[in-house]
Amino acid sequence: MVKKYVYGRPVETEAAVVSLQETAGTPELGETSLTEGFCFRYTLAEEDMIFGLGEANRGINKRGYVYISDCTDDPDHTENKASLYGAHNFIAVSGKTCFGLFFDYPGRLRFDIGYTDSRVMEISCADANLAVYVIEGTDAYDIVKQFRKLIGRSYIPPKFAFGYGQSRWGYRTPEDFRAVADGYRENHIPLDMIYMDIDYMENYKDFTWNPENFPDFGAFVREMKARNIRLIPIIDAGVKVEQGYSVYEEGVKNGYFCKKEDGSEFTVAVWPGYTHLPDVLNDDARRWFGDKYKILTDEGIEGFWNDMNEPAMFYTPEGIAEVKAAMRTFVENEPEKDAVWAMRDMTRGLANRAEDYAAFYHDRNGEKIRHDRIHNLYGYYMTKAAAEGLERINADKRFLLFSRSSYIGMHRYGGIWTGDNQSWWAHLLLNIRMMPSLNMCGFLYSGADLGGFGADTTRELLLRWLAFGIFTPLMRNHSAEGTRMQEAYRFERLEDFRNLIGVRYRLLPYLYSEYMKAALNDDLYFKPMAFVYPQDPIARETEDQLIIGNEIMVAPVYTQNAKGRVVYFPEEMRMVKFCADGSIAEEVFRQGYHYVETGLGEAALFIRKGRCIPIGAAVECVEQLDKASLAVYGWEGAAYTLYDDDGISKDWDMEKNCTVMKR
Ligand code: NOJ
Repeated sequence: MVKKYVYGRPVETEAAVVSLQETAGTPELGETSLTEGFCFRYTLAEEDMIFGLGEANRGINKRGYVYISDCTDDPDHTENKASLYGAHNFIAVSGKTCFGLFFDYPGRLRFDIGYTDSRVMEISCADANLAVYVIEGTDAYDIVKQFRKLIGRSYIPPKFAFGYGQSRWGYRTPEDFRAVADGYRENHIPLDMIYMDIDYMENYKDFTWNPENFPDFGAFVREMKARNIRLIPIIDAGVKVEQGYSVYEEGVKNGYFCKKEDGSEFTVAVWPGYTHLPDVLNDDARRWFGDKYKILTDEGIEGFWNDMNEPAMFYTPEGIAEVKAAMRTFVENEPEKDAVWAMRDMTRGLANRAEDYAAFYHDRNGEKIRHDRIHNLYGYYMTKAAAEGLERINADKRFLLFSRSSYIGMHRYGGIWTGDNQSWWAHLLLNIRMMPSLNMCGFLYSGADLGGFGADTTRELLLRWLAFGIFTPLMRNHSAEGTRMQEAYRFERLEDFRNLIGVRYRLLPYLYSEYMKAALNDDLYFKPMAFVYPQDPIARETEDQLIIGNEIMVAPVYTQNAKGRVVYFPEEMRMVKFCADGSIAEEVFRQGYHYVETGLGEAALFIRKGRCIPIGAAVECVEQLDKASLAVYGWEGAAYTLYDDDGISKDWDMEKNCTVMKR
């Protein structure tokens, strides 16, 4: 049962797909105040747990901290950060009373969940124009499923996108890409995608490629495809300001870029230097930008990642002018401590300034809206532009598409990756905990930069991260320029990498099947233990183990120098361990705690009592998957319904595509 409350004149976000009658008044569950902006206050009971918030910091149970929906390009995801790249304003309260709340509000929204006062939850924003959905349900899982129905079916990528991908910021030339392809293929480590970061472009101009490096881009795309490797280019939000660059010139001529209050173009510096931002909230501009993806699909490209779409700002001309003026005063005076620090803060603070986000406007089909009011929609609508464009290019074909910034609703158009993490063990744990929360908000196709984006990785961290990445729908190793190279073939004893990445392909039929079931049934692919074992007090608090699909539990190792870890079994389970030599070891664990050894280069999963899963042979790319090699592992007498399809068309009828396998 879902009720919708409307305050003031909310901005249309298209987050919900079900239209509901408005309920008058305010939710009885808590107190709503509309005097200074909007504030919803709820008294937390001792036992209340709070789930949701998608791409947010800290644990699965969000209680005890403050989170701010304000899409931010901040590469330091330390524990104290309240905002990351996404704005996923859904929570499910589970405890004394069970209910869900979705705040459909695309500006800055604050969730104080027992932070200021441990017994109080307060959700507030400055502008009381919003819609609030209240979901009544039996438990958190039931509420999440109702919410997912409200926001519509999650994006379904092509099957190749479930393969393993290699990325790095810094690949420039065909030789760089060939070296990666060779490194994987010659060492028989599986690979399906190589990502093209900004350096494939000509001077970071969207929808271009460097003509010197790629005299025949299409031929290069085909050369890679012939090796069963898809090239996946990045597209950035900002369009370079440059006379003679057609995208820039068309955008200016047709008024497709965001404008300042006086109607002049708004300019912001990102990778290419000064850029303009396509006004993706405007239907005509969105269509125009979406159609540009055809420039690359015409060359054979089948997938994209949309970046810098918070939108990220390095600086604006206005910001630079202020710093210059301050610097003049600074150099003319004797330096003293406070002035030095003020200067430092001012230059550092040039990026992503609140005043810059308040300095430009969207033309939402005739309505002028200041950007900060709809800030959290920008990445969503950029990705919607791409998805709609790709749909016009070929309505029957699935394209790979994911974004950095997002809002609920974008999950129907593409996936997300979780941005610039670091090569830290803490970020492997954050990745584990974030996945179910993302799923609750509809983002099923997602994953983190495996091995870590910033800082130098280690062989051990990368192997452990891959051992979890095997289970994330988006399995991509990505790292930043200047950090240690982390392609799998660069490390010693690379048979461990071959084996581990091979496990992804051995499990791919199962993982794909569970992904499709989750997408088609508006269900979770990653479930918190608390959702599956709500009556078990230990399981409820276990946040470093997850249930995947309906059959398995995973308990990733996320600490250095560990030979295994303590695993909590809420019920009897059957372990399947992929050993370093390629063999499979099985063991039954009774309910309770057990130390499970899992060496580097090994991966373990636990099959729930009475269930079974198919496991296939290791192959080097999705194209080579062979259903005939599938064997069923798990509990005697169990049956598994395997979903499979051609992986590229949109013919995903559940009944037609399912077969039952028995153990
Ligand atoms: C920021 C993205 O988060 C990162 O993945 C990418 O490598 C850099 N931009 C450069 O494009």
